[in-house]
Amino acid sequence: MKEEVVIRAKGLTKAFRDVVAVEKIDFSVNKQECFGFLGPNGAGKTTTVRMVSCFIEPTSGFLEVLGRQVQKEPRLIKANIGVCPQENNLDPDLTVEDNLRVFARYFDIVGKDALARCEMLLHFVGLYPKRKSAIEELSGGMKRRLIIARSLVNSPGLLILDEPTTGLDPQARHQVWETILRLKKEGTTVLLTTHYMDEAAHLCDRIVIMDKGRIVVSGSPKELIRRVVASHVIEISSGAPGIEDYLNSKGLAYEKTQTHFFVYTSFGPQDFEDVLRKFGDSLCALRMANLEDVFLKLTGRELRE
Ligand SMILES: Nc1ncnc2c1ncn2[C@@H]1O[C@H](COP(=O)(O)OP(=O)(O)O)[C@@H](O)[C@H]1O
Ligand SMILES: [Mg+2]
Repeated sequence: MKEEVVIRAKGLTKAFRDVVAVEKIDFSVNKQECFGFLGPNGAGKTTTVRMVSCFIEPTSGFLEVLGRQVQKEPRLIKANIGVCPQENNLDPDLTVEDNLRVFARYFDIVGKDALARCEMLLHFVGLYPKRKSAIEELSGGMKRRLIIARSLVNSPGLLILDEPTTGLDPQARHQVWETILRLKKEGTTVLLTTHYMDEAAHLCDRIVIMDKGRIVVSGSPKELIRRVVASHVIEISSGAPGIEDYLNSKGLAYEKTQTHFFVYTSFGPQDFEDVLRKFGDSLCALRMANLEDVFLKLTGRELRE
């Protein structure tokens, strides 16, 4: 059976004057999957989701959301998607439940229907006991969950989350993850951006990594780890003398940073034993490769402001 495609982008491009924020990207998102955009700051993630959300128009290229072209039917698309922007934009003058109810009115959901829908959503994100509270009484994680609830008011066929957990403490992050996983289980299609690799690995069926407006790589987290890195990583503190010669003589793939050697290998335990025998006095560790290794290998280690 052919999978139903919710978002289809081809040659999608957005330029702001002389800055090309998104350059000729192709991707598609299937129904009921959680699709992640990863990338350092300035990669073009927000610009991409803003085009999908019909907040800004593409400069060129093809972009279809829920079977409709963004340039032709933006209002129809907007009515059927939910969007959680990167920044908190709740109305501070309204209570928790009124933030939802006013939003429901935009979608012509009023009266008893609105009441029932908002109540259900407040239960869903665990904020029902806080329904009469002012926004400023909420923690960062609660605000995020309220924004997620608000984006679900119109029962969207696609949910878009731009950095849903940035700035949250670990507990709050896990609560937001749980909310997203429950939505996924119920069959909601989710498009999210993040720069947390563990978040992408935890939530996403497929991801793309963007850098400087382009898609560098795409696939499932597992597949990317296997393809770009290897199954295991051996970390060796760079103080040990002779390491580089040893790694070269063994033909092992590695990367060198100020503090460490990162050795990528599909024979982790074996290679680790050899390394320990030779360099056991230095700090050595064997671990499974993860998405962060993929990310750093592809986008480099220099800081992006
Ligand atoms: N409205 C805008 N006007 C001009 N440049 C913009 C605008 N929005 C984004 N950019 C630029 O486009 C690039 C990508 O930004 P953005 O999509 O926000 O990246 P990300 O969300 O991955 O951090 C950056 O260089 C940013 O400065
Ligand atoms: Mg962004």
